[in-house]
Amino acid sequence: MMPRLSVWFVRASMIYLLAGFTLGALMLAQDGISYAPAVMAVLPVHMEFLLVGWLVQLAMGVAFWIFPRFGLPHSRGNETLIWASCLLLNAGILVVALELWIPAVFLIGRILETGAVIIYAAGLWRRVKPHGT
Ligand code: HEM
Repeated sequence: MMPRLSVWFVRASMIYLLAGFTLGALMLAQDGISYAPAVMAVLPVHMEFLLVGWLVQLAMGVAFWIFPRFGLPHSRGNETLIWASCLLLNAGILVVALELWIPAVFLIGRILETGAVIIYAAGLWRRVKPHGT
């Protein structure tokens, strides 16, 4: 059964998929019929939502679910760290998106995301090893 934390990762990733495609569609329509040239400003957010919000987040959620579990009872690693990582990642994505209005916050968002990835790796580290060791 998919753990609750993976459910949140995967649900969030689907929301970013929807939002990212919507922004892409708006830009594509602008390319075709030029209804509002300012809409092209959403390109960095389109890239952020789809590459980090959707793809990276989906991989993180599914990896937390299916990586091998060790010990008895079977453990999924340090779940508190992974919850923190999920919150940091999503906060980071939203802060990066704020760059549409406040360009300087971009760096803060990237720092949050980098922190999320480091914490995630630390939390999952012990689940990455060869079978039988
Ligand atoms: C996996 C899904 C997607 C990812 C990872 C993605 C990512 C990107 C990236 C990285 C760029 C920038 C390319 C560059 O500057 O050379 C881009 C541009 C663009 N994307 Fe997407 N995209 C995705 C899906 C879509 C979809 C579904 C649409 C339309 C419905 C779309 C519409 C556009 C448009 C129109 C541009 C170009 C904007 C311009 O003229 O500068 N994308 N996308």
